[in-house]
Amino acid sequence: MTGMLEGKRLLVTGLITEQSLAFGVAKLAQQHGAQVILTGFGRMSLVERIAKRLPAPAPVLELDVTDAEQLDSLAERVKEHTDGLDGVLHSIAYAPPSALGGGFLTAPWEDVATALHVSAFSFKSLAMATLPLLSQGAGIVGLDFDASKAWPVYDWMGVSKATLESTCRYLARDFGPKGIRVNLVAAGPVRTLAAKSIPGFEAFEEAWTGRAPLGWNLTDSEPVAKACLALLSDWFPATTGEIVHVDGGFHAVGV
Ligand SMILES: NC(=O)c1ccc[n+]([C@@H]2O[C@H](COP(=O)([O-])OP(=O)(O)OC[C@H]3O[C@@H](n4cnc5c(N)ncnc54)[C@H](O)[C@@H]3O)[C@@H](O)[C@H]2O)c1
Repeated sequence: MTGMLEGKRLLVTGLITEQSLAFGVAKLAQQHGAQVILTGFGRMSLVERIAKRLPAPAPVLELDVTDAEQLDSLAERVKEHTDGLDGVLHSIAYAPPSALGGGFLTAPWEDVATALHVSAFSFKSLAMATLPLLSQGAGIVGLDFDASKAWPVYDWMGVSKATLESTCRYLARDFGPKGIRVNLVAAGPVRTLAAKSIPGFEAFEEAWTGRAPLGWNLTDSEPVAKACLALLSDWFPATTGEIVHVDGGFHAVGV
């Protein structure tokens, strides 16, 4: 795989700790020849400190995906570092506490709206914000959690992921004629900040480690990163609107 992203210019969102799925993608992408530009949200000094742990320096831009001004200026700010993009990673999700962990029937609309805005609508917002920079053959990849079922405790984040999956298909429809591919990687559970903030997340951990045909390592995000890189590379030129499961095969088996 060495150099499979040689010469590619990637925008990677969603880095907050070294465990972030985005960190794994940025690290592997640099190791495989890509130039990486990062975006961070809120705690920018923390994001910059974590970014320094990557194999190579990477500029960090601020991006709150619910902030129209930051979205509008994103392409110009990216252009200060590179003249175009070959790939974009969306690795962003958030739901207020009321919308997770058993609050499905009681979460107020304002909190549900926040979950949908940050976790699903933002996939479209980010795609549009970066469109002026995207080259023919570019790939956009988002991180999904299988939304074909209702899970314990996942609640409105599950609905947000179902919306993300549908958004991916519509984006694939509209970006395909521009030569841009849009796909998702549906990951199994990995112990990141976002995952640990879901009350009852242990239920996923136990299910996966017990049932995934290939087994599942809750602290290793490299399989997820590898799939993201493959979709961002030139090796999936005719694949769009797709969901690639990187879950040890969990989705394929029953109890
Ligand atoms: N960890 C898992 O088990 C798992 C499994 C499947 C899918 N995912 C998905 O992977 C993606 C990344 O999550 P992670 O597990 O690496 O956790 P993480 O906490 O490391 O990353 C979540 C990121 O979302 C960012 N974010 C939140 N609100 C934002 C906003 N308004 N604007 C911009 N960024 C914002 C945070 O700053 C953070 O960097 C998410 O979409 C998550 O749903 C995670």
